[in-house]
Amino acid sequence: MKEEKETAAVEFKQVEKYYQNKEQKVLNGVSGSVPKGSILTLVGPSGSGKSTLLSLCNLLITPDAGQVWINGKEVRSWDVNQLRKYVGLAFQSGTMLPGTVEDNIVHAARLHHFEIDRVEKFMERVHLPTSLLKQNAQELSGGQKQRVALARTLVNPSAILLLDEITSALDISAAREIEQLISDIHERDQKTILWVTHDLDQAKRMGEWTWLLAEGQVVEAADTHSFFHHPKEELTYRFLRGELSGGQRS
Ligand SMILES: Nc1ncnc2c1ncn2[C@@H]1O[C@H](COP(=O)(O)OP(=O)(O)O)[C@@H](O)[C@H]1O
Ligand SMILES: [Mg+2]
Repeated sequence: MKEEKETAAVEFKQVEKYYQNKEQKVLNGVSGSVPKGSILTLVGPSGSGKSTLLSLCNLLITPDAGQVWINGKEVRSWDVNQLRKYVGLAFQSGTMLPGTVEDNIVHAARLHHFEIDRVEKFMERVHLPTSLLKQNAQELSGGQKQRVALARTLVNPSAILLLDEITSALDISAAREIEQLISDIHERDQKTILWVTHDLDQAKRMGEWTWLLAEGQVVEAADTHSFFHHPKEELTYRFLRGELSGGQRS
């Protein structure tokens, strides 16, 4: 049984976000909490606000209304550098900086003012051979780049990890390897993970909790098994049947 009073890793309280004018509410009253140490998978049609919701968690953007609480403290009360040490982010692209793989990892450490004793350690954690350290990062395969991108994120021993479509550019086997890595990291470090994915099978495999976001609102939030097997909302059924854009089977 979960302690009812335990502080959530992330809690959204009636969050609203607008872009351009106030006509378009990208997030329209999002509430929900993510228990510490859990994996939340976030699905929804493209443009439904998933990336926007993640961006609020490490102050890439701020809410226009409502609040986002990270470990019991509202995001705007956090020192931004502290917050970004606490909340790590990995994107889809796996864009490499110029230079070697080692340069890429060392740069990430400098960015967060971390000393790293052994670069090799981070290669091992993402199952890349240390012989790649001296290689030009731009010349890696897509799967290798994504793993280096993860290694860069993991340099920062954050308690919360935000993952935004990190496997969408990869083939199924490379995507599965990344899933295995994330599972290992989750088990080892008990991180809280918020994982946006368009791959419904991945959301089902990886989630403990799953939310469907559509038009800036949480349509359904449930434990992952119930979400996929006994959804409560008609819209969730339709989404899972592929009748709304943005949900795909791998
Ligand atoms: N920086 C921005 N400026 C203006 N509009 C944006 C910006 N970022 C996202 N949007 C708009 O907000 C909506 C939600 O985007 P996003 O959160 O990226 O959705 P998702 O990740 O679910 O595909 C989209 O309509 C998108 O065009
Ligand atoms: Mg997105």
